[in-house]
Amino acid sequence: MPSTARKGRSKPRSSGASAAPAAERIVLTGFMGSGKSTIGRSLAQRLSWGFVDLDTFIEQREGRAVPRIFAESGEAAFRAMETAALASSLEQSLLVVALGGGALETPANRRALSTATQTTTILLTASFETLYDRCQQQIVAAAGSPLPIRPLLGDREAAAARLARRDVHYRRTADLILDTTGQHPEESVLALLTLLESIL
Ligand code: S3P
Repeated sequence: MPSTARKGRSKPRSSGASAAPAAERIVLTGFMGSGKSTIGRSLAQRLSWGFVDLDTFIEQREGRAVPRIFAESGEAAFRAMETAALASSLEQSLLVVALGGGALETPANRRALSTATQTTTILLTASFETLYDRCQQQIVAAAGSPLPIRPLLGDREAAAARLARRDVHYRRTADLILDTTGQHPEESVLALLTLLESIL
């Protein structure tokens, strides 16, 4: 099955002309290579909502690329920046947010999402082979960059273990799940719009 409705955490739509939309934020989660940034940007355009990619937000705020933050300041410092960036994104309305693939390893981020109101969290999945291949393509495309663009991907086995460890958090946090295996990003966007129809 390509997609599934999950926790029923979507809030009921109120009636009346001035009723606020039931969901005011859409948060995309999933492992590296799941398409969060590409799909999120396009989804936001279709909805005429704002878009924040948490990694880009951090990079702009820090004036350093994510691989450089990892190399110079370490993962713990990056995770603290990620938590602050998520908290500030959740204060905004009519916003699609693409999380980094590791954001849900941080308990504070899971709590922030599970307590956020009018916020729909969508997990983008794909087969491990698809995720890993997409990441490898990105790595090849970025050949020549001074630092590894995916500091935490590791080898195939390490990546599989990392995904397995995160999967429970991804699934527990998700209101909706979309399997993007074999989908072009635009097909995924259309599938998401269909899934979201009843809550926007
Ligand atoms: C990470 C995923 C990356 C980025 C950082 C760490 C991870 O984001 O936040 O390299 O721990 O999985 P994407 O999932 O957008 O690639």
